[in-house]
Amino acid sequence: MSKGTKDSKMQNAEKKAAQPESEFALAERLLDWYDANKRDLPWRQDPTPYHVWLSEIMLQQTRVGAVRDYYARFLNTLPTIESLAKADEDVYLKLWEGLGYYSRVRNLHKAALQIVEMQDAAMPRTAAELQKLAGIGPYTAAAISSICFDERIPAIDGNLLRVFARMTGYGENIKSTAAKKVATDYYLSIFPQTRCGDMNQALMDLGATVCLPAGQPLCDTCPWSGHCIAKADGRETELPVIPAKASRTIEKKTVFLIYYNKHLALRKRPERGLLAGLYEFPNAEGALSRKEALDYVKTLGFSAVRIHRLPAAKHIFSHREWHMIGYQILADEWQAFAGGKPKEHELFLASSEELQDVFSIPSAFGKYQAEIRRDYL
Ligand code: ADE
Repeated sequence: MSKGTKDSKMQNAEKKAAQPESEFALAERLLDWYDANKRDLPWRQDPTPYHVWLSEIMLQQTRVGAVRDYYARFLNTLPTIESLAKADEDVYLKLWEGLGYYSRVRNLHKAALQIVEMQDAAMPRTAAELQKLAGIGPYTAAAISSICFDERIPAIDGNLLRVFARMTGYGENIKSTAAKKVATDYYLSIFPQTRCGDMNQALMDLGATVCLPAGQPLCDTCPWSGHCIAKADGRETELPVIPAKASRTIEKKTVFLIYYNKHLALRKRPERGLLAGLYEFPNAEGALSRKEALDYVKTLGFSAVRIHRLPAAKHIFSHREWHMIGYQILADEWQAFAGGKPKEHELFLASSEELQDVFSIPSAFGKYQAEIRRDYL
């Protein structure tokens, strides 16, 4: 017998087959694990529909650790759906500052308006009804309806897809619509009849703390490891199958911190498109030389008396990257002061207090925000 054959025979003997288990026992096993290991998350302490909804929207594209403080601050200022419905755009945008994907909070506000207009002014109780609200897709609807109203519906997010792919050995593209459908059917076949919200949250926690992505699952601590096909086949680091990402376009920019009369120049971004309606430091396309930078600020109406280069910065969006350089400019004249509420793309001057409390500047400009010289304001 050749050595290779002997080795592979030994490996096969060592390999443990995934043990079949009744659907009921699988759910019970996971819920027991959840009861002992669930994460202490703020929205789990008082899971009203508004709280769960807000947390789910904040958690889209953002990690749990980063969401905690935002969640507390948001509810401090806007404690109810009614208060959110009545809030000014600048107020909820400021509360979202740094979280990114600002359409999420715009839709939150839109949906709050939809809810207060409803006959009972209350959050709908089923996933189907919830999906009629702005910004609520199948995942968020299922999370709210299962956690708050015990609807028996899996909330299919990246965590549940990964757990599903490993548990069943699913080897097709996990991002496809077909995969979501197969995963939904799988979970419906093992979901309990009650504690459906806990089941979803147990799966989310399992995905986030044990069945980790990027080839690092902690199978030794997994309540389902004896029933996992990927584990039995030694493929737990190969699954799920994720298609290669399309490359991002790179955009070069020059960002300006322009100080004039103890204020800083800002402008409002257009109401449509990337970072719509947020505030930004004036900026120009391309990496401008010092001379080009001075010419540019002149077109904005400023007479620069000092110019200083700021560090380069990079910000990565889903489909593009901004590669930025920056300049700090001190100006002693500005020819365009109009006052009043700024219109789109119109430059205006903001005081130190306004920068702190009023205008929401997206984190794409975070490096330059940190460079602001408070002693110039
Ligand atoms: N990720 C998104 N929603 C979550 C929740 N309710 N619990 C844990 N992780 C989550």
